[in-house]
Amino acid sequence: MTDATLNTAGKAVELPTLEGSIGPSVLDIRKMYAATGQFTYDPGFTSTASCESGLTYIDGDEGVLLHRGYPIGQLAEHSSFMEVCYLLLNGELPSQSELGQFSRIISRHTMLHEQLATFYRGFRRDAHPMAIMCGVVGALSAFYHDSTDINDPQQRKIASHRLIAKMPTIAAMAYKYSVGQPFLYPDNSLSYTGNFLRMTFGVPAEPYVVVPEVERALDRIFILHADHEQNASTSTVRLAGSSGANPFACIAAGIACLWGPAHGGANEAALNMLREIGTPDRIPHYIARAKDKNDPFRLMGFGHRVYKNYDPRATVMQKTVREVFAALKVNDPLFETALQLEEIALSDPYFAEKKLFPNVDFYSGIILSAIGFPTTMFTVLFALARTVGWVAQWNEMISDPNQKIGRPRQLYTGPVQRDYVPLSAR
Ligand code: CMC
Repeated sequence: MTDATLNTAGKAVELPTLEGSIGPSVLDIRKMYAATGQFTYDPGFTSTASCESGLTYIDGDEGVLLHRGYPIGQLAEHSSFMEVCYLLLNGELPSQSELGQFSRIISRHTMLHEQLATFYRGFRRDAHPMAIMCGVVGALSAFYHDSTDINDPQQRKIASHRLIAKMPTIAAMAYKYSVGQPFLYPDNSLSYTGNFLRMTFGVPAEPYVVVPEVERALDRIFILHADHEQNASTSTVRLAGSSGANPFACIAAGIACLWGPAHGGANEAALNMLREIGTPDRIPHYIARAKDKNDPFRLMGFGHRVYKNYDPRATVMQKTVREVFAALKVNDPLFETALQLEEIALSDPYFAEKKLFPNVDFYSGIILSAIGFPTTMFTVLFALARTVGWVAQWNEMISDPNQKIGRPRQLYTGPVQRDYVPLSAR
């Protein structure tokens, strides 16, 4: 591809074109300010590649999501969350023995420093578990000093393993605290996901039996959330990490960003919306509200910055709802409402023209609710699963020789320079 020439501010600037392995090429504008004295303006980064990455590829028009080249549908069907973690961190699928060793390492890190349990008691019982996650994950850097030197690859690796391993323990404790039940220590004889289910729903007084179908469904939900290119929370982790901040602080920043309803908080908002809609006969009223420019209401779990087609993760989610219902012998009528809402929205010209399709959050709440999670835990589960993506992206950034501190510029529209007026003269 030939480079582009930009004629601006009376100058002609050559902008090199950089090619990736697939997907759109990018114009390299790094020298533009020095050459022209002008910045580019792109709020929301709709046309800006902020980094080079070999982890995850999305083709939003075709509804394609690849991790290290592997389609998400294949990973969700045939793989396990541990295997996907290994793939994201190391670039290749593990052999049998590599997977065994990796799973053992992760399970060795599942316990929390005992003193961290006291942090929970400082929170109100009705605190949102995402607030607890932000606080406790941020506090990890006060406990694991031996893995905060970001220039040491070995320490980065240990911090990555610790974060992936401890997140289920932290998340389950946030839940236990909210319901007033005792914390459960991890049981490393269980799988990553089975252990999380037990720490969440088990009690010390009785043995907990993991339902294999539920374990598989939740593991698949973790796979579907593991990474998603340069989304808001991942970009937050990268930006925080670009200053040299320690990994625990960076992941806490990512969790804070994920909480927003336009991002990971949408799974909670989507189920709340379905509950508010209730029965299919009320759908037209909510469709009309979503289309009304003067009403801030949006269909939660619908639309995506990148996908202008069906989110491939939503396809897997919809199928998983049926599997979980069959395994638990339940049938939430909200699933019917969701299916009809999807059908009505997809046949409506407003949603068709704007290319708004169900995203990963549309069906996930129905599954998580059937398993027994309260809505406030939904985004926590997203954070748990996305932790591997965040740490993989953070590691990639630190190893990138082109990495610099993230420092966007601005179009200044405030007052021009003026003289201070003494208080007595105002
Ligand atoms: N319901 C109704 N209208 C919508 C919706 C929706 N869910 N999403 C977008 N639109 C409209 C929007 O009003 C705008 O219309 P117009 O061009 O007439 O002003 C147009 O579609 C483009 O929307 P946008 O907000 O400019 O698009 P964006 O790329 O900035 O936003 C989004 C993407 C995901 C924030 C947005 O679609 C949304 O708010 N969806 C609901 C929240 C949600 O489900 N978020 C989860 C995203 S997937 C999980 C994750 O990655 O975190």
